[in-house]
Amino acid sequence: MKTTVSVIKADIGSVAGHVVVPKELIEFASNKLEEYKNTELIKSYYVTNAGDDLQLIFTHDKGVDNPEIHEMAWNIFKEATEKVSKPMKLYAAGQDLLKEAFSGNVRGMGPGVAEMEFEERKSDPIAVFMADKTEPGAWNIYLFKIFSDPFNTAGLVIDPRLHDGFKFTVLDVIEGKEVDFMLPEDMYDLLAVIGTPSRYIIKEVRRKSDNEIAAVASTTRLSLIAGRYVGKDDPVMIVRAQSGFPAMGEILEAFAYPYLVAGWMRGSHVGPFMPVPLKYSKVTRFDGPPRVIGLGFNVTDGKLIGPVDLFDDPAFDYARQLAGQIAYYIRMHGPFMPHRLGPEEMEYTTLPQVLKKLEGRWRTT
Ligand code: F6R
Ligand code: MG
Ligand code: MG
Repeated sequence: MKTTVSVIKADIGSVAGHVVVPKELIEFASNKLEEYKNTELIKSYYVTNAGDDLQLIFTHDKGVDNPEIHEMAWNIFKEATEKVSKPMKLYAAGQDLLKEAFSGNVRGMGPGVAEMEFEERKSDPIAVFMADKTEPGAWNIYLFKIFSDPFNTAGLVIDPRLHDGFKFTVLDVIEGKEVDFMLPEDMYDLLAVIGTPSRYIIKEVRRKSDNEIAAVASTTRLSLIAGRYVGKDDPVMIVRAQSGFPAMGEILEAFAYPYLVAGWMRGSHVGPFMPVPLKYSKVTRFDGPPRVIGLGFNVTDGKLIGPVDLFDDPAFDYARQLAGQIAYYIRMHGPFMPHRLGPEEMEYTTLPQVLKKLEGRWRTT
């Protein structure tokens, strides 16, 4: 039996600024998904938030990019905006719903999507990662470590089922094209590309030996859809674990290092990526630091068993502390690069106006 796991998310409003999704929105979306479960469109669901992003996690048997499923998610976001976000005057109500009418697929309309379909194994553990205040390319370094760094994932060296390596598909979001890399053979070429995470984004990872899906990430870049700043894209991803995939502990190991990612305040800064439990799934200092929650499930007969709050563990205290220290250090730079992003990547800027004002005041040297 094939099962599809979908994670579809949108920022449709939050409390106290771009801080946190209120429980009213989570309840509204849960009730809606319960209705759809009763009509058997979906099989199970879990609703949560990553900071100010509402996250719908659910299973069904309709495959990826199914119009009925996408329309369901779109309608939930639309209705929740009208019935909850607007009456509550939530901040940035409906922010990510960039188009008026649904046209078959929520991709390209604002919401972020990660979906995978697979034949259930004897037991099928997965992890769902959801980020706030960063961009889809933030996953690049983590996916690289999980699926191709032997210093992170011991199984690549000592488990015959992982030893062949994985295939990475990378999307060029500027030119709208994609390319495959076979790891470990193509490792240096892959790194040459994904080291620019604002443009080249790992879209999915498959096991090389049988092309079985291992991980999928959302790749929406809202600013490219809207042609203007509309918030960072706050990505999600699904990763399969165990028995021929990296162990759950190898997947989580990558998050012990709070790498620098783009986003944070006004989507225009670099900051440490902090792994947090659900209770800290809200952004505070300088609208951050950028953070990630991780939920573990088993997929059993088409249903989600779980979740397990994967970063709710003292084992990640040091990563959080380190992220806190990095935040202090990098914040010292204020408006200076490399804390502030380069001009081509900033989501807010006054530079054109400032340069205009200075016209005529520059002297030739
Ligand atoms: C970043 C983000 C926030 C806002 C910031 C200013 O993705 O959503 O950091 O950019 O709070 O928000 P406005 O312009 O709505 O006051
Ligand atoms: Mg927001
Ligand atoms: Mg957000």
